[in-house]
Amino acid sequence: MTEKVAKLTLGDQTYEFPVLEGSVGPEVIDIRSLYSKTGLFTYDPGFTSTAACDSSITYIDGDKGELLYRGYPIDQLAEKSSYLEVCYLLLYGELPTKSQLAEFDDLVTRHTMVHEQMHYFYRGFRRDAHPMAVMTGVVGAMAAFYHDSTDINDPQQREIASIRMIAKIPTLAAMAYKYSIGQPFVYPRNDLDYASNFLHMCFSVPAEEYKVNPEIARAMDLIFTLHADHEQNASTSTVRLSGSSDANPFACIAAGVACLWGPAHGGANEAALNMLREIGTVERIPEFIARAKDKNDPFRLMGFGHRVYKNYDPRAKVMQETARKVLDILGVENNPTLQVAKELERIALEDEYFVERKLYPNVDFYSGIILNAVGFPTSMFTVLFAVARTVGWIAQWKEMIADPQKKIGRPRQLYNGSPARDYTPISAR
Ligand code: CMC
Repeated sequence: MTEKVAKLTLGDQTYEFPVLEGSVGPEVIDIRSLYSKTGLFTYDPGFTSTAACDSSITYIDGDKGELLYRGYPIDQLAEKSSYLEVCYLLLYGELPTKSQLAEFDDLVTRHTMVHEQMHYFYRGFRRDAHPMAVMTGVVGAMAAFYHDSTDINDPQQREIASIRMIAKIPTLAAMAYKYSIGQPFVYPRNDLDYASNFLHMCFSVPAEEYKVNPEIARAMDLIFTLHADHEQNASTSTVRLSGSSDANPFACIAAGVACLWGPAHGGANEAALNMLREIGTVERIPEFIARAKDKNDPFRLMGFGHRVYKNYDPRAKVMQETARKVLDILGVENNPTLQVAKELERIALEDEYFVERKLYPNVDFYSGIILNAVGFPTSMFTVLFAVARTVGWIAQWKEMIADPQKKIGRPRQLYNGSPARDYTPISAR
C-alpha cells in the first residue's frame, strides 16, 4: 500500500510529509521534519490543530460526544465499574481480573496514610488559604517526603510513586479541607472503599460517629470515574511538558494541580455553581443568557462549551442524572439551584447563539450541585477534580516516560519583538 502523504508547496518547491493513522480519530500530518526541510515553524497557539503526542489511553470524539477510556465508553464504566477499577484500566491498559483488582485495591488502601510530619507542613499555610493553593504546595512537597520514589528511570520507583499519589492525594485533599475549617485531620480507614474513605476523612469528627451513606459514596465514586482522564487537556499537557524534562513525578503532578485551578479548566465547576446561585431564580435566566451573548461583556455561561466536545459532553448526561439522585437521597429534590440549572440548560440549548457555536453543558455544569449537596464548599470542588484526575495524569506521564521517542517539550514561537538593537546607557534614555 502506498504511504499517504501531505504536500506543502512554498514558492516553486513542494515538500512531502507522511500522514499517520491512529486506531480511530483524525489522521495527523507528521511535520517533525518541517523545520529541517523548510526552515519554517507551524503556528498553532492553543494547540487547536496539533497532536502533541501519541497515546493509547483516552479517546474523545467531540462531534459524537464520545469518551472512551482504553476503548471502553464512559457511560458503561460509569454504570458498571468502580473508580479503582477504572484507575487500574487507565494505568495498565486492561480491565483487571478479580484477583488483580483485589490486589490493586489492597495496595492503594495500604498506602493512604501520609508521613506524620506532613501534618506539620500544613501549619505553614494561612488558615484561610484556598485548598487548591494548599494542594499545589503539598503535592509538590511529596517529593521531599517520598524521595525514595523520585528516580524516573527506575520502573519500580515510578510504580511506587504512582500508587503513593493515587492513595495519598485524597488524604492530602481531605487534610486541606479540614485545615480550612479548623477541624482535626482524620486518619484514613482501611475498612472503607476509596470514595467512602474520602468522605470519612472529610466529614467525620472525633466527637461523634460518622456513617458514610453508601449511595452518596457511590455518587462520589462516579464523580471520580467521570473525571479520571480526558486526553491531552491543559493540565495533562502541563504534566507531560513538566515530565518531558525528566522532573520527578510528584513535581509533575503538582504542576497539573496548578494548571487545573484555572476557571477555564478545573475551576469551572466552582464558577458554574457560583453563577447558578447568582442567577438565583428562573426569571433571571434571560438576563444572564443575554450577557453571555454580549461580546462587550466578558461573562460566559460557566459549565457551557468545550474545546473538544461540539455535542453534549457524555459526562454531563451522567452528572445530571446523578445530581437528581443525590438531591433525592438527601431530600432536597426541590433545590432551587437545580431548577435554575435545568431551565438554563433548556433555554440555552434552544438559543441560536449556543446552537450555532455548538455550546453544550460540560461535566462541570452539574457536578457543583452534587458536591454542594454532599456538603463540600465550592472552594473544594477543584480539589476533588484534582483527586480524581491524579490517575489520568499519572497514566499519561508513565506512558510518556516509557516511550522511547520521548523528547523534551520545547515549542517554538513567532517572534514579534524588536530586532537586535544596541544597549542605550540609562543617561541617554
Ligand atoms: N458562554 C458564552 N459563549 C461562549 C462560551 C460560554 N461558556 N464558550 C464559548 N463561547 C463562545 C465564544 O465567545 C466564541 O464566540 P465567537 O465565535 O462569537 O467569538 C465561541 O463560543 C468559541 O469559543 P472559544 O473561546 O473560541 O472556544 P474554546 O474552545 O477556546 O473554549 C472553553 C473552550 C471551555 C474554554 C469555553 O467554552 C469556556 O470558557 N467555557 C466556560 C468555562 C467552562 O465551563 N470550562 C470547563 C471546561 S470542561 C472541564 C475542563 O476541561 O476542565
